Amino acid sequence: MSSSAPLIVARNISHYFGEGEARSQVLFDNSFQINPGQLVIMTGPSGSGKTTLLTLIGALRGVQAGSLQVLGNDLVGLDAVALTEMRRNVGFIFQMHNLFESLSAIDNVLMATHLSGMTPDEAKRRGVALLERLGLGHRLGHRPAALSGGQRQRVAVARALVNRPRLILADEPTAALDKASSMEVVALLHELAVEEGGGVVMVTHDNRILDQADRLMSMVDGRIISDVLVRELVALCELLSQINFFSQLSTAELSAVAEKMRPIRFLDGDVLIRQGDIGNDFFLLYEGYADVFVDEGMSEAPVARLERGRYFGERALITGEARNATIIGRGEGVVYALDKEAFQAAMAIAPSLKEQLQKLYFGR
Ligand SMILES: Nc1ncnc2c1ncn2[C@@H]1O[C@H](COP(=O)(O)OP(=O)(O)O)[C@@H](O)[C@H]1O
Ligand SMILES: [Mg+2]
Repeated sequence: MSSSAPLIVARNISHYFGEGEARSQVLFDNSFQINPGQLVIMTGPSGSGKTTLLTLIGALRGVQAGSLQVLGNDLVGLDAVALTEMRRNVGFIFQMHNLFESLSAIDNVLMATHLSGMTPDEAKRRGVALLERLGLGHRLGHRPAALSGGQRQRVAVARALVNRPRLILADEPTAALDKASSMEVVALLHELAVEEGGGVVMVTHDNRILDQADRLMSMVDGRIISDVLVRELVALCELLSQINFFSQLSTAELSAVAEKMRPIRFLDGDVLIRQGDIGNDFFLLYEGYADVFVDEGMSEAPVARLERGRYFGERALITGEARNATIIGRGEGVVYALDKEAFQAAMAIAPSLKEQLQKLYFGR
């Protein structure tokens, strides 16, 4: 499997607990894909289905409905040998950490390395280095009973990471940790994702670490209700806040708008909007350039060149008139589109925005 292949492809995943009358659905038709290099944080109220989803991905529970590929393996109908092989590339950090009470911290970590292909010396070096980074250098020989909850949790983290798994599934891994340890755990997970091209799916409510995420997924009542790339979201909010008629929105309102925007890649010469067409979207140029033409002037020089941060397409949404210009992508780039409904909802949040725009288009 190539290193850029998706780590997880989930399609229409539903799940039920119980039988007969007691049968209840806890996951509803969830589809998503997770690529290498991402640290994904999953949030959502208690009981929303996060742990159930994580245990399905880790093949700790059988898929009932939908399809789930993990590290290139289709989990539906996977045989026991392939399942064992797949699990060797997945690191689990669950709240029930199941350390062996009779083994020391370092031996608990090394237990995980027996089938890894590392020599015992290599395994030991890596295990010790991880425990040291997690602040347990002075506790290597202690058994779990002699460790605090937070220390046991960190041993479980080291055990999950020692084999450099390609995928880490972590269920509230920082819940029992102080701030410094939480940061170190997240830094380790981040290194694994970004530097080693792995992926991390981490359930957490810890807002001290939300800003470390590449992507935020939130679940409510068994459904993924939002799924956003954090860096892009922040960059989008910044660009939106510079647009005069969005500048009065609060950060939360801006990010709600940004979450509704969807990226559209364009190639050189692609028509982004065409004069005379009905307008259904507002656009923000995110990457690349675009040229503006009016009245069949396509063979002449453009009347304007747009660059990152410039927007277009709002006029037709306000006035209901047809598009009044043709805009053509230059180079390769990305525009973010906001559909008419979401654009109008944003206008409803900021009443003066509507006034401003109406003045602009009707008041002259
Ligand atoms: N083994 C189980 N048997 C029956 N119901 C379960 C089981 N595990 C979880 N549930 C129910 O499924 C729903 C989702 O639970 P869970 O995935 O643990 O949510 P979260 O991790 O988001 O708190 C909850 O309503 C929970 O009560
Ligand atoms: Mg849970």
